Amino acid sequence: MSQENGDLLRVVYLSTSLISRSPGAFRAEMASILEACARRNPRLGVTGVLIYERGRFVQLLEGPAEAVDALLDDIETDVRHGLFKILWRTRASRRLFENWSMAFMDAADAPALPDAATPWERASPVQLAARLAFAGKHLSVLSVPVSPASPAVNTADRPGSAYA
Ligand SMILES: Cc1cc2nc3c(=O)[nH]c(=O)nc-3n(C[C@H](O)[C@H](O)[C@H](O)COP(=O)(O)O)c2cc1C
Repeated sequence: MSQENGDLLRVVYLSTSLISRSPGAFRAEMASILEACARRNPRLGVTGVLIYERGRFVQLLEGPAEAVDALLDDIETDVRHGLFKILWRTRASRRLFENWSMAFMDAADAPALPDAATPWERASPVQLAARLAFAGKHLSVLSVPVSPASPAVNTADRPGSAYA
């Protein structure tokens, strides 16, 4: 997906998870969400990263504007989360996460996020981009590589995860 035409839409939102944090339930729901990402995002040309941190989700979605907005409509109405708030919405010429249909980081398995004292709601685009890049280095095993031919589990350049 490196042949971009400068007309991508980048959206980052914050939401409140309604998923039980009991290990079995959480893992099953995350597997279900990431299975949907693996099935739908490549067809839509959408890539991104999903962070779970202390009961909240932050997700980056990048792709053709119509595809991102259509996907956002579906995601926003998903009963597994609420209090949906857009943090960053911008046109972009390059993707931040071109290799991932949906990378996933559970912050419980990673070191502290950059500028951890700044709430997500007050983070600048530069701080958001830094956190997203950080998440890309601390992925959990459920992450979904962009190529459907790639294995579902990416083991490169990241520590182990509680969901292995
Ligand atoms: C936090 C969160 C993030 C999600 N991200 C995606 C996504 O990037 N792509 C996707 O297809 N579904 C995503 N989903 C799931 C969708 O809301 C929806 O359940 C799914 O796309 C339905 O697919 P289906 O109608 O083909 O079964 C997400 C759900 C949650 C709770």
